[in-house]
Amino acid sequence: MRTLLFICLSMVVSSTALANQDPVNTLNQLLSDPQAKQLAYDEGHARSAFCRHCHGEDGNSKRTHIPNLAEQNPIYLFNAFEKFADGQRYDFVMSKLAKSLTLDDRVNIALYYGEQKVITKPAAQAYVREQGQVRFEKVCQNCHGEQGEGKQDMPRLAGQPADYITQTLTNFRNKDPKRQASVMTGITASMSDEDIHAVAHYIQELEL
Ligand code: HEC
Ligand code: HEC
Repeated sequence: MRTLLFICLSMVVSSTALANQDPVNTLNQLLSDPQAKQLAYDEGHARSAFCRHCHGEDGNSKRTHIPNLAEQNPIYLFNAFEKFADGQRYDFVMSKLAKSLTLDDRVNIALYYGEQKVITKPAAQAYVREQGQVRFEKVCQNCHGEQGEGKQDMPRLAGQPADYITQTLTNFRNKDPKRQASVMTGITASMSDEDIHAVAHYIQELEL
C-alpha cells in the first residue's frame, strides 16, 4: 500500500484548464455537454486508477468500512476532497491523497464516479428493520431523499455499507474530530448504538 501511495503521490499533476472557474458551475456545465462530459469521464476514469484499490473501478467499495462512490452526488464528492484537504475530515490515506489531486482531477473523478451504478447488498447482520425504517422515514428522508438518493449537496446514502454508516454516525455522535461538526452532530446526538445499527443496516439495503 505504501508503494502504491508513493506512486500516486508522485504522479505528474494534470492540466489546469478548469482552474479559473467555479467548480460547481464547471461540473454542471460538463454534465450538460455530452462531448465535454465524455472527455471528463475518460479523464476521471484514468485518474481513478489508484482509488480502485479501495473504492473499486465501478465505485463499489472493496471493504465494508470504505464508502461506495458509485452514483454519489458529484457535488458532494467534490466537496469531500476539499474537506479532506483542509482538515475538516481526517483519514490516514484520504487526507494525503486529497492534497495531491488537482482541481481538474477532483472535477473529473467526481463526475466519473457519480456516473457509476451502486450495487446494493443485503445486510450481513440481523437488525430490527422496522426500527431502522421508522427512524429513516421520520428523520433522514427530509434531507437525504425518500430512497436515500441524495440531492443538491446532500450525499446519497442508499446502498452504502452498514459498517461505514455505523462508523460515520458514531463519529458524528461522539464529535470525533475525524469528521467536522455538521448538522449530523445534532441529528445523531440522541441516537443509541442500537438505533445507529438499525438505521445503518436499513440504509445498506435501500435500492435506488
Ligand atoms: C487505502 C484505501 C483508499 C484509497 C486508495 C482511496 N480511498 Fe477514498 N476513502 C477511503 C476510506 C477508508 C474512506 C472513508 C474515510 C472516512 O471515514 O471519512 C474514504 C472516503 C472517500 C471519500 C468520501 C466519501 C463519502 O461518502 O463521504 C471520497 C470522495 C473518496 N474517498 C475518494 C477517493 C479517491 C478519488 C481516491 C483516489 C484518488 C481514493 N478515495 C482512494 C479509503 C481509500
Ligand atoms: C437537516 C438535514 C439532514 C438530516 C435530517 C439528516 N442528514 Fe445526514 N447529512 C446531512 C448533510 C448536510 C451531510 C453532509 C455533512 C458532512 O459531510 O459533514 C450529511 C451526511 C450524512 C452521512 C455521511 C455520508 C457519507 O457518505 O460519509 C451519513 C451517514 C448521514 N448523513 C446519515 C444520516 C441519517 C442516518 C439520518 C437520519 C437519522 C440523517 N443523515 C439525517 C444532512 C442531514
